Amino acid sequence: NTKPLTTIARIGEYEGQSVTLRGWLYNLRESGKLLFPIFRDGSGTIQGIVPKAAVPAEVFEAIKGLTQESSVIVTGKVRADKRAPGGYELDVEGIEVVQRVPEDAPFPISLKEHGTDFLMEHRHLWIRTPRQAAILRIRAEIIKAARDFFDDRGFVLTDPPILTPAACEGTSTLFPVEYFGDEAYLTQSGQLYIESTALALGKVYSFGPTFRAEKSKTRRHLTEFWMVEPEVAFCDLDGLMELAEQFLSFIVDRVLTRRAADLKVIQRDTAKLEAIKAPFPRVSYDDAVAMLNDAHAKGVLEHPFEYGNDFGSPDETFISSQFDRPVMVHRYPAAVKAFYMEPDPENSKYALCVDVLAPEGYGEIIGGSQRIASYDLLKQRIEEHHLPLDAFQWYLDLRRYGSVPHSGFGMGIERAVAWVCGLDHVRETIPFARTLNRIYP
Ligand code: 4AD
Ligand code: MG
Repeated sequence: NTKPLTTIARIGEYEGQSVTLRGWLYNLRESGKLLFPIFRDGSGTIQGIVPKAAVPAEVFEAIKGLTQESSVIVTGKVRADKRAPGGYELDVEGIEVVQRVPEDAPFPISLKEHGTDFLMEHRHLWIRTPRQAAILRIRAEIIKAARDFFDDRGFVLTDPPILTPAACEGTSTLFPVEYFGDEAYLTQSGQLYIESTALALGKVYSFGPTFRAEKSKTRRHLTEFWMVEPEVAFCDLDGLMELAEQFLSFIVDRVLTRRAADLKVIQRDTAKLEAIKAPFPRVSYDDAVAMLNDAHAKGVLEHPFEYGNDFGSPDETFISSQFDRPVMVHRYPAAVKAFYMEPDPENSKYALCVDVLAPEGYGEIIGGSQRIASYDLLKQRIEEHHLPLDAFQWYLDLRRYGSVPHSGFGMGIERAVAWVCGLDHVRETIPFARTLNRIYP
């Protein structure tokens, strides 16, 4: 077989020519002397046409009755067809079946509806279906966009450790690991470490896995998730908010231009994404609380919001649903936020922090702040939070030697993917989700 090897995503470059594809049979429709196999190869799907009269008998016989997910090498001529979802069809000329899935032990994920538990139990196979594959390609694009955004703006990628001696985001969600007789923890965030690389290199970012022993079963929480975290020396909260809005607009634009076909496969309403353009609205915590109270007074929200609390998911959903683009809620009460946040010089009751809430009810996708620059205040906060001072001596060094105002944020990749793809649950945004009650497969 001398026909050029290509992929379904690039098949348009071969219109009118014969090509070779390597992949799997996704589906097969048979109507007498005509077979309509749908092939997938990881880059997309394409329908083949196999008329009995036009192909060698052994080709027709090999495809007739072929089982779902059998692996194949197919040759055929590429034909443009406006009705085809990808714009092309394949007039099949030859086929080699690499492995035929046995009839009596068929592929478990059939084309009918399955329950979520069943699908998650078979996640290693579920990811072959077109919708899941499209989501994973969009995830990869979002990661690439995030990396490109920072690389192109002079940020240096610095990788923080995964095994750490102390908490970053609170002791209640730490995963302990035995470390040669000592206790260590899986990292909750690379932040403390990239604060030190920011003071070494100016503008830095990290991208890596983070872990939280989240006891809550929600559509937004994983126990293992991937975070991209920029950290910038001499940057204040205003500078950080500008960075966040530029960053999110860039990512959404990238997905819209490069992953249009996948957005179509998952039937995403792209008009909603096209609205995501900087500047984003900025709302203080106090104003956000006033919005919630107002909604409660008008009977739109059932429960009153208690001033001083952190926002829960329903609160975030309501606040973010008031805007057509991400909203940046800043200056939360310091008492509900992490120990390292710089107090607002105008009123130390507030922290110089920001949560970016995605629209359409997605809620928080970014959390960040300006960091405490003063040695004395940082030490006091570590003590107030009952954190072990010893484990933080290196972190305090950053305030002993040339301390500067600096700021950073973290964006959870899975939350971003859920929003960009319009998904109900983060479990579909990562190849193998880790949650409170699932660690298989
Ligand atoms: O708001 P968080 O906890 O902030 C930090 O970890 C900071 N240290 C980041 C920084 O300033 N460098 O987490 C940041 C983001 C959240 O906005 C959310 O997108 C995501 O990480 N996230 C989770 N995603 C999935 N599952 C969870 N359990 C998550 N917890 C946080
Ligand atoms: Mg947060």
